[in-house]
Amino acid sequence: CQKQHMQQHIFLIGMPGAGKTTVGKALAQHQGMEFYDLDAVIQEKTGKSIQNIIIYDGEEAFRNDEFEAITDIVNHKMPAVIATGGGTVLSEDTVNLMRESGFVVFIHRDVTQILDDLDMEIRPLLKESIEYIFRLYEERYPLYEKVCHVKVQNASTIADSVEEIVAALPNVVR
Ligand code: S3P
Repeated sequence: CQKQHMQQHIFLIGMPGAGKTTVGKALAQHQGMEFYDLDAVIQEKTGKSIQNIIIYDGEEAFRNDEFEAITDIVNHKMPAVIATGGGTVLSEDTVNLMRESGFVVFIHRDVTQILDDLDMEIRPLLKESIEYIFRLYEERYPLYEKVCHVKVQNASTIADSVEEIVAALPNVVR
């Protein structure tokens, strides 16, 4: 047998406002890997804002865009750190794709902390109400837990979160 030394992609999942993008950028820099923010990739590819895609094309179309964007990265890019959108885990196909092509990290941040620093304006699915965010959190939390290879608490500094992720990475990724 030969040990596999190939690097894999690292997918960050979790609630909007959990810190996927911030932690992801720092992690990518630490690992010398490329960083992709899935929302940004989709906006660039389609020339539309995420908000407009969800409103005019519908959420299902957006979930499909997410799947295609991840497929593109997996097929054409070097192993990278990818910050996904909060709802990326809602598609079973996308979940399978992420788990097959990389290491999935659940960035967990307390919902009260998320509410404290969430910029409501730029997060289209979250503008309704605080109750909505709590409900979303309760609905999705079990899914994030089920889908991830490892869960990391984003409770103190970005550097701490990065360190925790790196320590949890399997040898093939590290
Ligand atoms: C969504 C989260 C957003 C974005 C879209 C849908 C969701 O990403 O993909 O508005 O369903 O939770 P962030 O988690 O980066 O805010």
